[in-house]
Amino acid sequence: MNAIHTATVPSNIAFIKYWGKRPHARQWPANDSLSMTLNQLATKTSARISNSDDHSLRLGDRVYSRTDKNLGKTFVHLDRLALRFGFTEKLQITSVNSFPMGAGIASSASGLAALTLASLMAWTDSRNWDDLENKGFDRNLLADLSRLGSGSACRSLFGGFVQWEAGPNEDSQRYASLFSDEHWALRDTVVLFSSEQKSVGSTEAHELAWSSPLFIPRLSGLPERMNLVKQALADRDMQGLGLWLEAEALEMHAVIMTASQPVHYLNQEALQFLADLRTARQEGEIHAYFTIDAGPNIHVIHEAGEHERLKLWLQRRLAADRLLHDSVGAGPRLDFQSE
Ligand code: DP6
Repeated sequence: MNAIHTATVPSNIAFIKYWGKRPHARQWPANDSLSMTLNQLATKTSARISNSDDHSLRLGDRVYSRTDKNLGKTFVHLDRLALRFGFTEKLQITSVNSFPMGAGIASSASGLAALTLASLMAWTDSRNWDDLENKGFDRNLLADLSRLGSGSACRSLFGGFVQWEAGPNEDSQRYASLFSDEHWALRDTVVLFSSEQKSVGSTEAHELAWSSPLFIPRLSGLPERMNLVKQALADRDMQGLGLWLEAEALEMHAVIMTASQPVHYLNQEALQFLADLRTARQEGEIHAYFTIDAGPNIHVIHEAGEHERLKLWLQRRLAADRLLHDSVGAGPRLDFQSE
């Protein structure tokens, strides 16, 4: 039997969003972005060399092949990696998310990063980061490769608070952890507003960004906003960070809602929740701020010391199974098991 190589990769939540890609380039974002790597919301993917004619993918109890439509991205990514580095062996992949399937939580960041790491470990017979690096796969290259699968995946390769710089050309993109997970014990409580598959996926919606009249003005203001967010992180300034978090998320949704084919990701209940959260904050009941990705769920960002009070406030309004509790985390973990 062949050895099993496993990567456990957390999801990440963007504070400055990656929204819009430069045209005619390979996953080159329109702007720099910054995120917090999470801890428990993660994808665990194992890969082993197989004797089959093609790759196989087990997700939960089901085995998928390349003809399964919504998993096309996975097989395209494996083919891309194999072609680029000349790997000919087929892989047996098993993947599981720590968050409930269908919870409406995006799994592409953690999923594509975990797939990249586990498959390259199996193909190069690497047991850890040092082995990968000795075989030519340093963390920047691994982030570059993960990004080709899904842009936001590149930030999940690092722990703590992570910046992805677009760079001067598509081949000079850079990734770095600006502050480790120990710098500031921030938490993310995710409030689930819909478990349905998104009507328009983010890859499709990214393309529409340029058609919004708000997009170019947004890009011109982002470098300054990035500096302010970094300063707030450096100072552990919750209020300073929080106000930008909300403005940034709402601006991205304004771009999405003013594109040539507008998309409305937030439903009535989610919009009401945003207003209620702000009122409770103004009245001093809680000290927490929201951010939102291209989907219906709300991420409530707060300091660790605020968690119990916020949890009680949330539980008075929502069933416990609509809340996922997580915090900043240290980044991916690699494991190896010989058989
Ligand atoms: C709203 O990484 O899902 O979450 O590169 O097309 O796979 P693709 O897009 P994806 O976009 C995520 C956008 C976002 C903001 C962010 O994570 O920065």
